[in-house]
Amino acid sequence: MYTIGIDIGGTKIKFGMFEEDGQPFKVQEIKTPKELIAESMIKTIIDMVQENDIQGIGVATAGIVDYQNGIITSAANLPSLVDVPLGKMLEKAFHVPVVVDNDANSGAVAEGAIGAAKTVRSFICVTIGTGIGGGIIHNNELVHGRSGYGGEIGHMTIVPKGLPCGCGRKGCWEVYASGKALERMISKNPYLKDYRPQDVFAKGAEKEPCKQIVKEYLEYLSIGIINLQYMFDPEMVVIGGGVIDSSTYWWDELVEKIASTSSIPINLQQAHLKNNASMIGANSLVKQM
Ligand code: BGC
Ligand code: NA
Ligand code: ZN
Repeated sequence: MYTIGIDIGGTKIKFGMFEEDGQPFKVQEIKTPKELIAESMIKTIIDMVQENDIQGIGVATAGIVDYQNGIITSAANLPSLVDVPLGKMLEKAFHVPVVVDNDANSGAVAEGAIGAAKTVRSFICVTIGTGIGGGIIHNNELVHGRSGYGGEIGHMTIVPKGLPCGCGRKGCWEVYASGKALERMISKNPYLKDYRPQDVFAKGAEKEPCKQIVKEYLEYLSIGIINLQYMFDPEMVVIGGGVIDSSTYWWDELVEKIASTSSIPINLQQAHLKNNASMIGANSLVKQM
């Protein structure tokens, strides 16, 4: 018997098939379609599962989730998702229990259970992908807030009257410190035409203009992280999401920047489950049902 864990992001959707051990043994990816997200997901799951029985489906998605009812309320980087009853749609198609929660929340659950935050009770997991998400765990409990907005740290204002964000507001943290922010900084410079964020990080130690971009990026990233420490004083702040794949190039600089500008110590750790944390966490949520 198997379960499925799914991670819906602004750029791609990842599907994992899991056995009892909680680790995915088969992973498939599709590009996030512009619309009809439920339909294309159902098709991919059918292909993936084939003749095997599945026992449940856990979905982690970018955006605000009414997790009790399995509804995606809205998502800054997935504008076609407004009030989508994804849980009900998947239950109807597969006749198994379905759990839907926010991607960063699911990532935090996984890091707390088997990852970087296994030994602490209160921590914040920052998921940096297309946007920036947060999962707040307080005394081993996930903070959903009143209606699912708990942990939406990517939309804290960091620059008054700043650049517009997908959420409709201006100057949000994710506009300056997410994967999309890096892409914007790269696209402004014609010399960096074929560069991806990981290329800029790789060159960031010595070459301009990469050095300047990385410096500015880490500046914004560190400010947000320090704000979180002041707000919650967690035992640990875990950093995960797509950007962590190139952390060898920037991690030490971020740690130094924080140490030299924060007046309270921060126990900063890299996600152990790397970019799979949300998918693994979503799968574990459906198993707990
Ligand atoms: C969304 C969050 C999400 C994060 C990471 C943000 O734009 O508002 O819900 O967790 O991106 O995907
Ligand atoms: Na969250
Ligand atoms: Zn925003």
